[in-house]
Amino acid sequence: MATLSIDPRVSGRTADFVATDHRMLIDGRFVTAASGKTFPVYNPAAGEVLTYVPEAETEDVNRAVAAARRAFDEGPWPRMSPSERGRTLWQIADLIEKNLEEFAELESLDNGKPFKVARVADVPLTVDMFRYMAGWATKISGKTLPLSAGNDFHSYTLREPIGVVAQIIPWNFPLLMAAWKLAPALACGCTIILKLAEQTPLSGLRLAQVLDEAGLPPGVVNVLTGFGEGAGAPLAAHEQVDKVAFTGSTEVGKLIVQAATGNLKKVTLELGGKSPALVFPDARIDAAIRGTASAIFFNHGQCCCAGSRLYIHEKVFDEVVEGVSHVAEDIKLAPGLDPSCQMGPLVSDEQYRKVVGYIESGITDGAKVAAGGPASGVERGYFVRPTVLTNTNPRMKVVQEEIFGPVVCAIPFSDKELDAIVKRANDTLYGLAASVWTQNLSLAHKMSRAIRAGTVWVNCHNVFDASLPFGGYKQSGWGREMGEEVLNNYLETKAVTIAL
Ligand code: NAI
Ligand code: MG
Repeated sequence: MATLSIDPRVSGRTADFVATDHRMLIDGRFVTAASGKTFPVYNPAAGEVLTYVPEAETEDVNRAVAAARRAFDEGPWPRMSPSERGRTLWQIADLIEKNLEEFAELESLDNGKPFKVARVADVPLTVDMFRYMAGWATKISGKTLPLSAGNDFHSYTLREPIGVVAQIIPWNFPLLMAAWKLAPALACGCTIILKLAEQTPLSGLRLAQVLDEAGLPPGVVNVLTGFGEGAGAPLAAHEQVDKVAFTGSTEVGKLIVQAATGNLKKVTLELGGKSPALVFPDARIDAAIRGTASAIFFNHGQCCCAGSRLYIHEKVFDEVVEGVSHVAEDIKLAPGLDPSCQMGPLVSDEQYRKVVGYIESGITDGAKVAAGGPASGVERGYFVRPTVLTNTNPRMKVVQEEIFGPVVCAIPFSDKELDAIVKRANDTLYGLAASVWTQNLSLAHKMSRAIRAGTVWVNCHNVFDASLPFGGYKQSGWGREMGEEVLNNYLETKAVTIAL
């Protein structure tokens, strides 16, 4: 094994956890991979190995599914009272909160994001998600239904857990994505196999310890570390899995759908985006500049709902582009644990190459660089400067494809195009989110209706809450996460009819 390196700024507890002999959680026990194989986890701020984690493959998947199957078919979890389940969820939230700093450090080390951001966003939102879903556990209910066939029957519906759920998550918000998946499935009484992203397994492995400490019965949540093909694919195809919930690329989302056909397991998907932000001339320009900059630069643009197409009315185009470019130039790039860090590195060498490749393709296709560019000026680590491109056209790859980095295309529109701007905003395979910047109430409502996306923000962007359903139209996905709506992902409806 190579010498492991860890940022000296992390606390002793975090350093100790990173250095432990990492184990997966299967059937209530912390175990190595059946093969004994491990793979490296990198610190993206240095490009160095942080530690090694088990590499799950088919055999580990089979064990985890068997454990989840037993826990669902025979175990106490689906049968206990909803209030007991709710209490356990609440306790998970308390334990995460108690270890908030450690989780934020792990997230920063492993993913590269600023520690300061993980501390006020990723971890508190995770805690909120468990608490919000703890409340739903006791509020899942069916209906009594009058029959057209007459009064000789008593009919009602039961809402029952869907069963054994496979959950496959990405690396952009490692802990929060785990919470978006686990909390509602647990509230519904499901049992789970969670596969963490291979780039960022550490906070999920720490979460596995918390789940164990909270007293979840064996097999209720099984946590695997491994790669997409080696562990994700056999999980998605498994005959004993009733449902797969996936967040990641649209490309892999389609593979998940194919893998699910064998036993027709239920599928929900939260996929890519190319979200528009629309700035109208009557917007509060300062707020629009700050807001649209944050729409793309938050989390280094590694958000499925990043505002990556910035449509600006020509009357304010120069002012907004200049403002967003200033914001971009002022952002301090540094390792996530550096107190001065405003933007850390991208998550991996692969993402770094992909994003720089997009910036270069934009330039080759004739776009102009108003801020940033392909060279980061930082010696080590996967850093990309926040970049603003102008002079694009709708056919360019940078305008069409999800970049998943801090790169925005600023595009002008005129009064003549006010109707056409809706078409342009909707001219994408995706339909995840959009933001509209205006003070005109009527325009705000009209745009909110006209945009084909699962989320529309007005005079804000990237506002998330456990109570707000989130998900995509078109190729951005199937189903919704969070809010009351997510419960549909993890429940079956049974109609019961009794002849009186
Ligand atoms: P990905 O879609 O390959 O990975 C997401 C998860 O799926 C990971 O846990 C991975 O191990 C798993 N996976 C990969 N192949 C699989 C397969 N055949 N069967 C089952 N599971 C599989 O995303 P990746 O490669 O990390 O990033 C590529 C691009 O995807 C990004 O540049 C970005 O455009 C997009 N993406 C979108 C996200 C979102 O939140 N919608 C999150 C992460 C990436
Ligand atoms: Mg991939």
